[in-house]
Amino acid sequence: MNPGIQIWDMTYNFDEPVFRQGTNCVKYDSRKDVFGSDRVIPMWVADMDFKCPPFIIKALRKRMEHEIFGYTFRPEEYFSSIINWIKRRHGWNIKKDWISFSPGIVPALNLCTLAYTRPGNKIIIQPPVYPPFFNAVTDHKRILSYNKLGEDEGTWKFDYNDLEKKARDGASMLILSNPHNPVGRAWKSDELQQLAEICMKYGIVMISDEIHSDLVLPGHKHIPMASLSGEIADLTITCMAPSKTFNIAGLSTSSMIISNPDLKKKFDAQIESLHITGGNIFGNEASIAAYTYGDEWLNNMLDYISRNIEYVLVSFRDNELIKPVIPEATYMVWLDCRKMEMEPDELYKFFINEAAVGLSDGSAFGPGGEGFMRMNLACPFDTVKTAVENIENALSKLSNK
Ligand SMILES: Cc1ncc(COP(=O)(O)O)c(C=O)c1O
Repeated sequence: MNPGIQIWDMTYNFDEPVFRQGTNCVKYDSRKDVFGSDRVIPMWVADMDFKCPPFIIKALRKRMEHEIFGYTFRPEEYFSSIINWIKRRHGWNIKKDWISFSPGIVPALNLCTLAYTRPGNKIIIQPPVYPPFFNAVTDHKRILSYNKLGEDEGTWKFDYNDLEKKARDGASMLILSNPHNPVGRAWKSDELQQLAEICMKYGIVMISDEIHSDLVLPGHKHIPMASLSGEIADLTITCMAPSKTFNIAGLSTSSMIISNPDLKKKFDAQIESLHITGGNIFGNEASIAAYTYGDEWLNNMLDYISRNIEYVLVSFRDNELIKPVIPEATYMVWLDCRKMEMEPDELYKFFINEAAVGLSDGSAFGPGGEGFMRMNLACPFDTVKTAVENIENALSKLSNK
């Protein structure tokens, strides 16, 4: 057991198991549909099994007690808390009039496609990557252009030569995962700079999805793409949210940060045309509380996750069949299972049927994801330990066959 962590006058106990079944939560209550079994340990969709921090619950309770939940707007504090958080955590100075609201980042990616491209235009994405990136392109009759990530002995990198080629072939927009889901890279300044230079040369709008920016692991740093220079910011839409960080994805509240007034006007015109800028009272309250009081809880939560990750890395250190990729960010580990020599469907079913763990199928992340599985470690250590033991047992049966 990991010891509870002392904060202020209370202890946050990330070891505490929380029974989530029957709460309409996708992670547990959709297991039958997704895995064909509701008995697998769910380590797939990216939300956490930790309770939302008490300062958020307190803010929600306080608002709840008023008992009237009519139309609302986002107060000054909503914006100042975002601005201060981004300055504190990421050293980036932003202004209130750069911030646009969206009920989620996936909706925002789709709105960007509509705002900055036309049907038939090419949009570059960098697989293996978060599956909704594909739909944000194809659902609107735009064309996917793949700039696959390269892999060098477990380290994933951008392929600039290929990017230049794809940019030269014509592309209007690029969607970047920064940090990258699923490979766990927290891209460095020089890597982002080189990527941005190619996009600037060809006038490609960069959508930098930074939803995992707060989840950078100790020893690493998040670099907001738009913080690199004014000219890069001029072509960049930054997507950020408290949703992953504080386990409040169900409150549908996120921000697009756009310093170029022209690009901002286009984004706002799209979202306003759908009349979905209102947001919700509880999302606003949760966001203010998270960004005002969240530092210490987040630092401790990241320490806890790091220990879960370390446990997985150590457990599989000498394993012949599964090689975990060391993550720099996110609470997920990308498991290289290519030595198991199974087809994607066979691999996916192996974890469900032989190990009783529900992982995300790497092949769903597009080209380059085949032979990998993604494991979500935002859960109590005991759950991680059981899952690892289940996998080790299943692997040993496999080797004895
Ligand atoms: C890279 C990335 N973008 C966006 C999302 C989801 O965004 P939202 O729930 O705000 O639509 C996720 C969730 O896992 C993600 O990994």
